[in-house]
Amino acid sequence: MMLTLIAAIDQKHTLGADNDLIWNLPDDMKHFVRSTKGHAVIMGRKTFESINSKPLPKRHNVVITRQEGYSSEYESVSIVNSLEEALDLVKEDDQPFCVGGAQIYKLALPFARRLEITHIHHSFEGGDAYFPEINEGEWKVVKEEYHPKDENHAQDFTITRYERR
Ligand SMILES: NC(=O)c1ccc[n+]([C@@H]2O[C@H](COP(=O)([O-])OP(=O)(O)OC[C@H]3O[C@@H](n4cnc5c(N)ncnc54)[C@H](OP(=O)(O)O)[C@@H]3O)[C@@H](O)[C@H]2O)c1
Repeated sequence: MMLTLIAAIDQKHTLGADNDLIWNLPDDMKHFVRSTKGHAVIMGRKTFESINSKPLPKRHNVVITRQEGYSSEYESVSIVNSLEEALDLVKEDDQPFCVGGAQIYKLALPFARRLEITHIHHSFEGGDAYFPEINEGEWKVVKEEYHPKDENHAQDFTITRYERR
């Protein structure tokens, strides 16, 4: 099983603010959907609520919370109380994804074998959630894809795949 952390971050590793994203990059969104479709997606309770507590379609959504009795009406959502429980639940998936947010990325990073990071070439103000440091001694870049600015993308970005050394 290859746990992959997938995230979009700015130059300061900002993930978002006020429990939301602070950019609009449709081609990155497409990359996220293409990458994760058909796979399990593990996320924190706050990220789940940031998408209006609706599951990402065609994916098994696993939501981590410390709350007892937290529930979801959707069949494709599993609620668990720890990362270990989440990983156990998705062990049949060859490539489950951790889709954030900050707390869950930090928790999952030691278990990850791949990072799929969209590096936005910009520094946003007002962020309040951050991706952990990516230590170059632990991670090697195996793929990079540059996306320039255009009429639909106010910032340019590079999608970088890292694998554990
Ligand atoms: N840029 C990106 O790619 C990206 C991706 C995802 C999210 N985001 C952004 O990230 C932000 C949200 O991140 P966040 O760090 O505030 O929240 P989060 O990681 O999504 O969720 C945090 C919640 O997870 C649960 N949790 C954390 N550690 C736990 C543990 N050890 N055991 C059990 N449950 C645990 C707790 O839920 P309870 O409080 O219910 O116990 C905690 O409040 C938002 O701004 C969102 O838009 C950005």
